[in-house]
Amino acid sequence: MKEAGINCATLAVFAWARLEPEEGVYEFDWLEDIINTLYENGIHTILATPTGAMPRWLTDKYEEVRKVDRNGVRRIHGNRHNFCPSSPVMREKAYMLDEKLSERFGKHPGVAAWHISNEYAGDNHESDCHCPLCQKAFQEWLKERYGTIDALNHAWWTDFWSNHINDWEEIHSPVPYGEENLKGLILDWKRFTSDRLLNFCEGEIAAVRKYSDQPMVCNLMGFFRPMNYFKWAKSLDIVSLDNYPFWHSERDENVLAGEAAAIFDLMRSLKHQPFLIMESVPSSVNWAPRCILKRPGMLELSSMQMIAHGSESVQYFQWRKGRGSAEKYHGAVIDHKNGGNTRTYREVAALGERLSKLPSDLLSSFNQARIAIVYDWENCWAVENAEAVLNPFSCYKRWLVYYRALRSFGVNIDIIDMESSLEGYDAVIAPLNYMYRGDYMERVKQYTEKGGTYVTTYWSGEVDDSDLCFTGSHPLREMLGVRHEETDVRPLWQENHVLYQGKAYEIRDICAVVHEESAEVLGTYEQDYYQGMPAVTMNRYGEGNAYLIAAECGEDFMKAVFSDIFNRLSIHNPLTNEVPYGVEVTERTTEDGRSYVFAMNFNREPLKMEISQPYRDVETGEEFSDHLTLARWQCRVLQKKEF
Ligand code: GLA
Repeated sequence: MKEAGINCATLAVFAWARLEPEEGVYEFDWLEDIINTLYENGIHTILATPTGAMPRWLTDKYEEVRKVDRNGVRRIHGNRHNFCPSSPVMREKAYMLDEKLSERFGKHPGVAAWHISNEYAGDNHESDCHCPLCQKAFQEWLKERYGTIDALNHAWWTDFWSNHINDWEEIHSPVPYGEENLKGLILDWKRFTSDRLLNFCEGEIAAVRKYSDQPMVCNLMGFFRPMNYFKWAKSLDIVSLDNYPFWHSERDENVLAGEAAAIFDLMRSLKHQPFLIMESVPSSVNWAPRCILKRPGMLELSSMQMIAHGSESVQYFQWRKGRGSAEKYHGAVIDHKNGGNTRTYREVAALGERLSKLPSDLLSSFNQARIAIVYDWENCWAVENAEAVLNPFSCYKRWLVYYRALRSFGVNIDIIDMESSLEGYDAVIAPLNYMYRGDYMERVKQYTEKGGTYVTTYWSGEVDDSDLCFTGSHPLREMLGVRHEETDVRPLWQENHVLYQGKAYEIRDICAVVHEESAEVLGTYEQDYYQGMPAVTMNRYGEGNAYLIAAECGEDFMKAVFSDIFNRLSIHNPLTNEVPYGVEVTERTTEDGRSYVFAMNFNREPLKMEISQPYRDVETGEEFSDHLTLARWQCRVLQKKEF
């Protein structure tokens, strides 16, 4: 491990059956031996609470800990990430073990942080438990949210299809053999499911906190749909990520690089602080459709990309491949054969060495962003559940097109939700803001009035927190300076375009039909009954500008629109005026204002690009005055020459 440059290891993630082999019998000595050995060798431990998988004595003796799935079937023992979060027994047993672990190791100098459980709700993507205890908890949650049954009936619009609810106890979670159409019920069940598991996690944190001051970390899974990570992040000290792009599964590495970048930016933005990579794979996962090994060089580039976006660690799942069971072929630093004499091991060791030599103040630096893009979990739950326009509807995939277009400019981007502050951003990009929650709408108006640039799209401003449609007019009608009339979807057999700045851009799917009031029309529809009507508008509002992109086109169109907006706001890439295709640029700035620029080439070919000022490679010392060279899959860490 030392030779491989490893200075931190996560331990005991699923070790419940070893740590508590019988109810109330704790065996921690073996764990202490490992923690001690690591520590004596300069390796810190991130110690897990082992609640991600339940031991058999627990599931055998206490039926209630096993969750009931959406078909009403109570699970038998097996798998992981599948306990009932409402079960008092589960809470008692898990928290007791957590407390004991913390009592024993909470002050151990080798324990650097706590890894709370594992990928809460992971694996089966059915994170909800439908048991009687969870039904009761849901009813209580709803009482708290709505106060009166009348308020709930109104919010869920229950007169439709005779859904009127008389008593809280009549409410049941959405299931295929019961109610599956009441939109408000479905949305609230998603909210509850995320809150319930978070509440369980908070209990674990409180138990560990009794004896330890070390940071509490959960390993999150990027844009994992069932859990609202913006809410989760508030209860965690540090956000960490398990990151598994299927490298080389696309002909063009840039596709996956863009998605990985979005995930990293999300992780950093959740707490607006650096994050950790808790898991990544040195070679390949065992669960992809095609388990393609990372080609030489990709481990280094993909790991440097994590640092470039704000991570402070590169950790792997896993150190050594197990000989048996579920993940015996999952990539690891050490394979079943050949010890350290493998390509993968050598690449891990080389990366370890590189990371250890990076300038030390990089660790006190941060990716400052002038631009934010809104991604809101509750909004996505609601828009995917809308049953309108396009069925099914992937909020994330459509949102990603906007993110990619922004990313291509090579400037830092924060990802915020509707509760996040908008202050300090020059531009807020808000695609597919179908739901306006809480005071978001008011804050958007204030932000724009005070000089911000707000860019929103079709299929925005449709419903309130309860998924009830706004009536009368679009809530931001005055600010956008347009009147929304209807939302169309392009028939597949018919092409249509947006005409913008002398070019025609193909429309993918959605076309909002709007009428300009005070807004200036920047782009129009080429065909159909809305030919010549506004497709892109800008409205002056107070000191700021509000844009509406009414039609859904591809990345090239978004780039054209964003380019004009960025020029107007003087938002420029720190390195170059034109970021070549496949090159990613990010910037981390230290507390005293020193800036590190990361330039990454995801193309399979080397390239030479123009740069707008002289830079020096801080690792190799090479100097570049007007052109920068990047080898295939190279990441350079650069500083302006004057430093
Ligand atoms: C997740 C889990 C690990 C392991 C890896 C495999 O991230 O946390 O326990 O199963 O996936 O890729």
